[in-house]
Amino acid sequence: MKLELPHDSRLRQRDFLYGVATASFQIEGGAKHRQPCIWDTFCATPGKVRDGSDGQVACDHYHRWPEDLDLIQSLGVDAYRLSISWGRLLNQDGSVNPDGARFYLELLDGLKARGIKAFVTLYHWDLPQHLEDAGGWLNRDTAYRFAEYADKASRLFGDRVHAYATLNEPFCSAYLGYEVGIHAPGLAQPAYGRQAAHHLLLAHGLAMAVLKRNCPDTPSGIVLNFTPCYPHSDSEGDRAAAAYADDYINQWYIRPLFEGRYPEIIETLPEAVKPTIEPGDMDVIGHPLDFLGVNFYTREVYQAAADAPFQTVHLEAVERTDIGWEVYPQALTDLLVSLHRRYPLPPVYITENGAAMADQWQGEGVQDEDRTRYYQRHLEALHHAIEQGVDVRGYFAWSLMDNFEWAEGYLKRFGIVYVDYPSQRRIIKDSGLAYRDFIQSRTETP
Ligand code: FCB
Repeated sequence: MKLELPHDSRLRQRDFLYGVATASFQIEGGAKHRQPCIWDTFCATPGKVRDGSDGQVACDHYHRWPEDLDLIQSLGVDAYRLSISWGRLLNQDGSVNPDGARFYLELLDGLKARGIKAFVTLYHWDLPQHLEDAGGWLNRDTAYRFAEYADKASRLFGDRVHAYATLNEPFCSAYLGYEVGIHAPGLAQPAYGRQAAHHLLLAHGLAMAVLKRNCPDTPSGIVLNFTPCYPHSDSEGDRAAAAYADDYINQWYIRPLFEGRYPEIIETLPEAVKPTIEPGDMDVIGHPLDFLGVNFYTREVYQAAADAPFQTVHLEAVERTDIGWEVYPQALTDLLVSLHRRYPLPPVYITENGAAMADQWQGEGVQDEDRTRYYQRHLEALHHAIEQGVDVRGYFAWSLMDNFEWAEGYLKRFGIVYVDYPSQRRIIKDSGLAYRDFIQSRTETP
């Protein structure tokens, strides 16, 4: 199966940027050469990760990065989105770890040598454990530590980085990690979730100022995930439930960036759950962005509930990926158009989109037509959003290769490249070949 779009689509122009994405903890391994992080601790806690696995070796990218860069190049992409492991780059005392610095500098130079733009995310969930021991994202000081880390990283990397994202998906760090506890560090209290979210956004704003000072010509922004919220029925109750869920899950993270305030539902939270916000914080958080990264996978459906502001509805008989997420491309169009109408958006990049599928490799290729179809339908959805005026400049497939999928361990495969973990062989899946051919088929912008 091929990926195809109308000839005059913006997505087919040569300057629409295509990439693949990964994250440090999910692929690097090389755990002995860095500080332990909250995900190491979480993995070592029985029952937290489904297959009992960890990130000690992962895809062994720490040792195999040159061949991985060749692989990325062979896909013909314009850009590679990677994240930096905070605890690999910096020692516990905040000084630069020479081995970690060398690793990332060589990697970034390797990308440059291959003509691939580096989109660097500074924080993709792997908080150094020593900072968690001091309170993690519940401790306001962590936001300032993050700004120092952003300062050291951006000075060190110089002009090797094409674009910086401060955080990846603060919703996941705050809500999954501190409010419901299904991600590291595994804490579970609403007050923790809201406070962590505020400190993460503060960290983002502080780091934005640092990045703009150190590398004013490098576009900097943030990556947010969105799970659009739909009402189960047209009833007033269901619509109110979906609107509340949207505020709590999605708008909570984007509205402060553009409007300097949280959604009004903050007033409905019990006093003990309301985050502590210091004077000036919202101005810091509202630092202008050069771009917004949008991660999109699926939607959720909500209904009214007697004892909670909203309740998730599990739809039967809908198409789902191997991780159980509904395939609903229309939500990507709806999301982008609604964000565009609501906020003064800077240029947008789709920084993650993709699907986990039950791939099989038996010594031949990997026939993952289901994944190619997912990409086809989401590229079409993106095309429709652009036609409605959303300024999208690029698209990154999640993921370059199969990797450690957080609480699912290695059970879920998101790659367009298959990883045979025992041998660490990489095999480009049919979806990867289709992506490569599609990228190659772009035409010069008239
Ligand atoms: C996103 C994460 C990414 C990956 C995908 C499937 O929430 O940013 O690391 O796990 O989901």
